[in-house]
Amino acid sequence: MDFEWRRKDWVMIRGVPMICACTPNWERIDNFQAREDDIVIATYPKSGTTWMSEIVDVILNDGDTEKNQKDAIFEKVPMLEFWVPGEVSPGSELLDSLPSPRKVKTHLPVSLLPKSFWEKNCKIIYVARNPKDVAVSFYHFDTMNNLHPEPGPWEKYVDKFIQGNMGFGSWITHVKEFWDLRKDRNILYMFYEDMLEDPKREIHKVMKFLGKDFSDDVLEKICLHTSFKAMKENPSTNYSALSSAIMDQSVSPFMRKGICGDWKNHFTVSQNEKFDKYYEKEMSSTDLSFRFIV
Ligand code: A3P
Repeated sequence: MDFEWRRKDWVMIRGVPMICACTPNWERIDNFQAREDDIVIATYPKSGTTWMSEIVDVILNDGDTEKNQKDAIFEKVPMLEFWVPGEVSPGSELLDSLPSPRKVKTHLPVSLLPKSFWEKNCKIIYVARNPKDVAVSFYHFDTMNNLHPEPGPWEKYVDKFIQGNMGFGSWITHVKEFWDLRKDRNILYMFYEDMLEDPKREIHKVMKFLGKDFSDDVLEKICLHTSFKAMKENPSTNYSALSSAIMDQSVSPFMRKGICGDWKNHFTVSQNEKFDKYYEKEMSSTDLSFRFIV
């Protein structure tokens, strides 16, 4: 199946490259009405959004891993800015129709996040991942996601990433701006690498942030249910319910590897040197830091 929005170039929204299909009628995003009890899962793409979404969903179901398994993750936790006109309804509309408390997924940087989330002081769970693994994951995602432009060869991809010529813009800007806001706002800032290292410890943090308290057994159950293996096999979380015209999982599966350090299998020595220089320069002014191996 072919459709109008296939492999279109990014479209700039106030200086941020955005998925072309999602850009018409952008006022729907600016004017989006948050509710006080919305829970926002905000990330730069490929940083563990789906993983955190499933964790939050199960926590809000009081640890019941059986409940609400019939809806796909992109229905339970709609992506606010997503839209494929003529193919998939706008995430903002889907959200308007959901009962509270809503779970809102977004990749929007701070500069594009609807202001009503700040006005209503909504809880935001931000997940960040080391940029080398993000770049590798994004590259594979670009190869299979027909709403994105073709990624081109990997040899040039790291440069594009450094330049911020990616969907949702610069990784650095994204992670830093949420980091800088975390103390003044209702933000729980999480790291993908920490979640891999000790899922139970990290799920416990999310549980507390959401005002819940579960026994150790329930926490263990949530860990198992949200493990990479379980989520890869689970049709409600592995994106198999989404049309292959949009995501062609025969090219690269959505649940690809789920590890830290796959960048070592992709970055050449010179790409790595260049990246390290860029990273050191950009991160010199912040106390935010990342782990590249766990
Ligand atoms: P890889 O491509 O490196 O495997 P997002 O949901 O933000 O798009 O992120 C997708 C990345 O998170 C993919 O990384 C995917 O495999 C990984 N992922 C998804 N669920 C996971 C889980 N339960 N545990 C570990 N990684 C997970």
